[in-house]
This record gives sequence, structure tokens and C-alpha cells, in this order.
Amino acid sequence: MPDSVPFLLAPNALILGIESSCDETGVALVQAGAQAAPQLLAHALHSQIAMHQAYGGVVPELASRDHIRRVLPLTAQVMREAGHALADIDVVAYTRGPGLAGALLVGAGVACALGAALGKPVLGVHHLEGHLLSPFLSADPPEFPFVALLVSGGHTQLMRVDGVGQYQLLGETIDDAAGEAFDKSAKLMGLGYPGGPALAKLAEQGDAQAFKLPRPLLHSGDLDFSFAGLKTAVLTQTQRLGDQLEARKADLAASTQAAIVEVLVKKSLAALEATGLKRLVVAGGVGANKSLRAQLNAACAHPGRKGGPVRVHYPELHLCTDNGAMIALAAAMRLQSGRQQANRAYRFDVQPRWPLDAISTALT
Ligand code: KG4
Ligand code: ZN
Repeated sequence: MPDSVPFLLAPNALILGIESSCDETGVALVQAGAQAAPQLLAHALHSQIAMHQAYGGVVPELASRDHIRRVLPLTAQVMREAGHALADIDVVAYTRGPGLAGALLVGAGVACALGAALGKPVLGVHHLEGHLLSPFLSADPPEFPFVALLVSGGHTQLMRVDGVGQYQLLGETIDDAAGEAFDKSAKLMGLGYPGGPALAKLAEQGDAQAFKLPRPLLHSGDLDFSFAGLKTAVLTQTQRLGDQLEARKADLAASTQAAIVEVLVKKSLAALEATGLKRLVVAGGVGANKSLRAQLNAACAHPGRKGGPVRVHYPELHLCTDNGAMIALAAAMRLQSGRQQANRAYRFDVQPRWPLDAISTALT
């Protein structure tokens, strides 16, 4: 079959998803038909956090090597748990980008080899599209159109989403991502890597008003973000505190989290107002943050909100951070559009830098 023919999903087709863009190897099996909502049959994940911790951040070469070690055992585990054989797979999906080039190449190489061996098509997926669509696997899936707040370790973006493959960038960070702001602040407080979850946990015991930290670009009138200044302010506070840091750490963590969350909430509301849309989808690792969820829910449900209440949708907590399920899901939803081509030539490339809105027109 030539490459250029759209691939149509058979009823109950099985899509294997492989994620290897950074420091997590994720594999999942999703079942989907031409129309039926995709179902997650099984997924498995190996986090490299413990391995990278000694270095205070991700070491790309170690990440690639570890993906090589993990991907096939995880695939075997997923197939076993789903009660299927490799030969039952209809499509193999992998993360094509953005991410670490070497790490991406592992997933792409394995996916194409598997596709070639099985004689099944292969599909390269955008990692952020996976995050963005991940709430469709939740018990409360959204409907199009919606505003998406994408908050991961490398990206902070507000998108207008009108359908699968229809993504319009509304605003993004001009420097650090929200996840980076969590991680870098946590590092300054000696909370290890990746510090986001640790900082959030410590913040539960602190006073969010204790330190006055900047809310960068809060009143900029656009939908862009900036978090680099916040990190510098946290650095200044840690230096000022000196020996007192240990005793005030929870307060500093709570104040830092409050600054990040306030900006994310205000800008999300501004995006909803600007677009007139009534749905918000929050995706990416920072979307697991409890304080962000609580404050977004409160602000969006507020009866006094200009434009009326807004429904907020999240991925299941365990699917907020990187995983293979969102990659299989994004592939399934693209194939359900009936306009997505799949690769049967088994040539692959990866896209370490790849803006999400660049794939917007691919399906239209
Ligand atoms: O989406 P993700 O798993 O990976 C990327 O694609 O980047 O996001 C990872 C980011 C890290 O910065 C991590 O610290 C942050 O998400 N994160 C959190 C929480 N859980 C993960 N940040 C704040 N609170 C959390 N509970
Ligand atoms: Zn991610």
C-alpha cells in the first residue's frame, strides 16, 4: 500500500503507544474503532528519576541507553496484561518529538522495527498532542472546542483546540516553563530533582503569603508567560534566609507555588474570555498539582465569572506526566479523523524541536 493513503481503523483495532521523549519509558495498548471512544487496555511505565537524581537533572545519553533497556520488557508486560499477542497489534505509534533526540530515536527505531516485523503501519505522534488529548481517556472526557493549558517540564502554552489536529497557539512562555519554575525553585531549596512534586508537597505545610514573590506578566494584557524572574526572586530569598532557610522552607515553597498558580489561573481565565469558549483542558505534568486544580476549579465555577461558568477537564492523575497511553490515544484519535496517513515504508525521523501548531493543518 502506498504511504499516501489515509489509514482507516478496523473495528476494535489495537494501537500500541511508545513514549521515550525524556526520562520516562512508557508503553500502552489502546483499543479503538472508527468511531468508538478509545479505551486503555494496559499501560506500563519506567521512570528514570532515580538514575538521573545523582546528576541533579536528566543526562541525555543515560536516558537513551535506559530507554533501550526498558522498552521491550515494558512492551511484553503490556501485551501480557492486556491478554494479547504482538501479532494482534494493528498500529504502532511512537513519540516523534519534541524531546531529546537520542531518546526519541530509541522509541522511533523500536516502533518502526516492530511495525516492519508485524507488517503493520507506524505513526509518529507529537508529544504535546498526546498530553493535550490525554483527558479523553478520563471518566469525564471533554468535547471540542476548548482552551488547553499545557503545562509540562518544557512547555507552558495556551492553545485554542477546535478538533484533532486543529491547534492555535494563543500564548506561551517567553523563557522558563511552569514545570521548570517548580523544578529550579525546588533545586534552590535543596529538594532534589525533579522538584515539582516535592515542592508541592512541602507547600501544603507552608504559608503562601509569607514571601512576596513576583507574578511575571500577570497584567501584560496578552496570554504569554514568563517564569525566569520568579526563579531569580526565589534565589534571592534563599540567599537572604541563609541559616533560616530550613525553618522557612515550607513557607517559601508555598509562596512560590502560589505565584506560579496565580499566573496560570489568571491567564487561563483571560484565554477563556478572549475566545469565548466554555471549556478548559489542563494537561502536562504540572496539571497534577493539587493547588492548581483547586484554584482553577474554583475560579471557573465562580458564579460571578464574566461569561458564565466553565467546565475544567484533567487527565487521570497517573496520566498527567509522560506515558505511553497518551501517545496511543493521540494516534487513535488522528486515525479516527479518517485523514491521517500511516507509514508503511518504515523510514523514520524524529523532531527534537517541533511546535504543536506546526501540525495543525496536517489533518485539515
Ligand atoms: O509532562 P511532564 O511529565 O514532562 C514533560 O513533558 O516535560 O512534566 C514534568 C514536569 C516537571 O517539571 C515536574 O516537576 C512537574 O511536571 N510536576 C509537577 C507536579 N507533578 C509533576 N509540578 C508541580 N506539582 C506537581 N504535583
Ligand atoms: Zn510531557
